Amino acid sequence: MKVLIVGSGGREHAIAWSVARSPRVEKIYCAPGNAGISQYAQCVPIGAMEFEKLADFARTEQIDLTIIGMDDPLVGGVADVFEAQGLKVFGPRKNAAILEGSKAFSKDLMKKYGIPTAAYENFHDPGKALEYLRTQAKFPIVLKADGLALGKGVLICKDLAEAEAGVKEIMEDKKFGDAGNAMVIEEFMTGREVSVLSFVDGKTIKTMTSAQDHKRAMDGDQGLNTGGMGTFSPSPFYTEEIDRYCQEHIYQPTVDAMAAEGRPFTGIIFFGLMLTQDGPKVLEYNARFGDPEAQVVLPRMENDMIDVVEACIEGRLDQVELKFQDNAAVCVILASDGYPVKYEKGVPIYGLENFDGKEGYYCFHAGTAFKDGQIVTSGGRVLGITAKGKDLKEARSNAYKATEWVSFATKYMRHDIGKAIDEA
Ligand code: AMP
Ligand code: GLY
Repeated sequence: MKVLIVGSGGREHAIAWSVARSPRVEKIYCAPGNAGISQYAQCVPIGAMEFEKLADFARTEQIDLTIIGMDDPLVGGVADVFEAQGLKVFGPRKNAAILEGSKAFSKDLMKKYGIPTAAYENFHDPGKALEYLRTQAKFPIVLKADGLALGKGVLICKDLAEAEAGVKEIMEDKKFGDAGNAMVIEEFMTGREVSVLSFVDGKTIKTMTSAQDHKRAMDGDQGLNTGGMGTFSPSPFYTEEIDRYCQEHIYQPTVDAMAAEGRPFTGIIFFGLMLTQDGPKVLEYNARFGDPEAQVVLPRMENDMIDVVEACIEGRLDQVELKFQDNAAVCVILASDGYPVKYEKGVPIYGLENFDGKEGYYCFHAGTAFKDGQIVTSGGRVLGITAKGKDLKEARSNAYKATEWVSFATKYMRHDIGKAIDEA
């Protein structure tokens, strides 16, 4: 088979690694890809939002399957463009990707179908939002831009003044662009966060092993929200009992709700959960693999990715049993100093060859490029260093050891990825 992957981050590198292991795959392309992905795939210079060009490429090169890694093209309807041309594509159609594309939609869906989530109100008008905050809100409170905002459109406000400033930022100054045309105001919850990714074929859902991300930029969960600074899998806090509850009250009900709304979901649903005192609740849905969750979940998956993806597209996921290794993985992101605000690019990276032939160690590229034959930084998140171990402690120690194998002048990382393990 010839497979095309759309995206250019660490997640797409992990997907490419997984796809490359399938004996059924003869050639992989990635659009636009990055320097690391080019180890497994031929990178083609087409942007993830250039739907017609992507589809033309898939047709001309006789691609058998296209896997969409990123949220923006899915929410924008790339799957519909492929399907309309008879091309096989993995990822939800536009009318289903709205599960991630509109937080107001997803909150209303959960309310209508009784899926546990934080209490909320949706607003389309900043005046009404301000009135609500002044008269009815309890603080802290959470403001969320309705649309996609690179994981940055969520503001936790400790008092009215912060919330007023937040409404201005999101709805009036449009800091997140059109994502702020509408806004969700929701109850602040506390608890541990867990990411559960799943394969979905429209009716059946099969969940993968759990993971936990670290969204803040600095140690001790300080600093700004980022795309994610590191992950571990599995989460020791995600017990079998919690899993049973979620399967019954969250996972299958979400898939059934989407089908009932005439928006059958085929692809990956990523459940961002908070384990609260009142049980697990949905923080958010994503319509694709997490980044960097994919970098710890996929290396532990035993199935052939292509078999599972085809089963989803063909509506026979009920016949698939997902299998994960009985071990653990930790991913530490090496970022550019200054991320997520301002950082240098084009900085040479040394030591990548140290990963060659090291079983159980992975160096997934997130923001890298070639410059004069040398691999250099090209983004805020640069590399995802993943290591496996027999348990989480060993995986963490292996991952931090491997972070020393690579160097670049602007290298920055958190030192407490997986610290929560010690509390389990
Ligand atoms: P989201 O993009 O919706 O996952 O939100 C980003 C982060 O904001 C989450 O990972 C949580 O840490 C935090 N967050 C979102 N919603 C809430 C909430 N209702 N209560 C507390 N924290 C939240
Ligand atoms: N790691 C969170 C995300 O992919 O959105």
